[in-house]
Amino acid sequence: MARMIRIFDTTLRDGEQSPGASMNVEEKVMIAKQLARLNVDIIEAGFAYSSPGDFEAIRRIAQEVEGPTICSLARARPEDIDRAWEALKGAPKVRIHTFLSSSDIHLKYQFRISREEALKRAVEMVQRARGYVDDVEFSPMDASRSDPNYLYEVLEAVIEAGAGTINIPDTVGYATSQEFGLLIRGIRERVKNSSKTVISVHCHNDLGLAVANSLAAVVEGAGQVECTINGIGERAGNASLEEIAMGLRTRKDFFDADTGIRTEEISKTSRLVSKITGMVVQPNKAIVGANAFAHTSGIHQDGLLKEKSTYEIMKPESIGLVQSKLVMGKLSGRHAFRQRLEELGYRLSEEELNHAFERFKRLADQKKEMYEEDLEVIVSEEIAKIPERYVLKGLHTESGTHKVPTATVELEIGGRLAKQTGTGDGPVDAAYRTIAAITQTKSRLLTYVVKAITGGTDAQGEVSVRMEEGGRTVTGHGADTDIIVASARAYLNALNKLAYWASRNTDPAQKVGLI
Ligand code: KIV
Ligand code: ZN
Repeated sequence: MARMIRIFDTTLRDGEQSPGASMNVEEKVMIAKQLARLNVDIIEAGFAYSSPGDFEAIRRIAQEVEGPTICSLARARPEDIDRAWEALKGAPKVRIHTFLSSSDIHLKYQFRISREEALKRAVEMVQRARGYVDDVEFSPMDASRSDPNYLYEVLEAVIEAGAGTINIPDTVGYATSQEFGLLIRGIRERVKNSSKTVISVHCHNDLGLAVANSLAAVVEGAGQVECTINGIGERAGNASLEEIAMGLRTRKDFFDADTGIRTEEISKTSRLVSKITGMVVQPNKAIVGANAFAHTSGIHQDGLLKEKSTYEIMKPESIGLVQSKLVMGKLSGRHAFRQRLEELGYRLSEEELNHAFERFKRLADQKKEMYEEDLEVIVSEEIAKIPERYVLKGLHTESGTHKVPTATVELEIGGRLAKQTGTGDGPVDAAYRTIAAITQTKSRLLTYVVKAITGGTDAQGEVSVRMEEGGRTVTGHGADTDIIVASARAYLNALNKLAYWASRNTDPAQKVGLI
């Protein structure tokens, strides 16, 4: 029987370290619930000590998400370990993941401590974490650039101290696949007590090798892979979960290993993470890119028509990519709406359901056919809502071949109405300039992306923007059958997020650093 490899998902921790990918608590809880449906083994829900937002997200996820083990990251410091426990306590399956560098480069220049001191601290912090939980993971950061003999020594000591998982990070994405596989083999052969622990790997993608390195490690006996949805993460990102899961599933014959991932949930999870983080998936991205299952060459199409296996190594349905399903229409009632959402895996509170249903009715008036993806957008926006300082009350634009694009915008700001008209290079630009003038924002628009949620000219357009103000970066989303309205909603959503983080005087992106 194939060896089962644990999937440790770090989308909410390392993934969130992607510039501009900060998520609020509701958004994290929503992703965590989807990760549970995907059946990951462990969710690294955040880094409890780093910010009140992370602490709250871990606490909520540990309380509300059933199935996976919930984990918090902690530096090898007493205050971090204690805070991780505070966030996790009371939940049924929890893990503390503590880390300290093992490479001389990090110890000498960054931590400014000796190897002996680092080893002692690692052991003490694993013991401290074991005082709280049975499930402790230790990572020697920058393992792939460490002196192997010192690395073996650290690993043996932390296993002895009670680490049930030792995670080997290729922190800067430096290792080649063969090298990394040999490193894992070396650990298995040279660390005396390695059989008492699970060897995990955590690879970064700086040289585009994160997935290849993780799979090379599996071949050499790694039993856990750390990865993220869509491969998001610090710098060039982490190993992509969907590539690891589908690689192992598709080539089980070669790896003799598999995961418990419900692969049919992959596509939906990828869409959700992309929408919430604002990190657009490149069309040619393996598994989840828009072109991943599109065959255009005539020769390929000819082969496929004769026999699918000629050019198709995975079925689109295996990742949940099915023909968009018509789910409901204008006449569907509230009860049917709730039932359909529950079938899709969403449980809303009465209040959320009322708002979502109102929005559904409005959309159903504009759009004849409603698809699963339309419902996903409504629900994700409802659940992940933040307080709205600026509310769009009205928008009228005029544009055309011989017209100066003009927008009239009406906003409600703190209970008062404000209306203004402005011009721009196009209707979106006119709307954005006018909103900027009304709100007097000092923010900068960094990116603007529009895409159709489903096919057809009556499809909802989904707009994602990334905006920056005073060093804070946020993403905003808006969806509507009118893309100018969707654009205005996305812009206001980002402005509301900036206002929200400013009022709380916290910023999800400005946390305590990892060191
Ligand atoms: O890349 C890395 O080394 C990390 C550690 C905290 C595991 O993210
Ligand atoms: Zn990392």
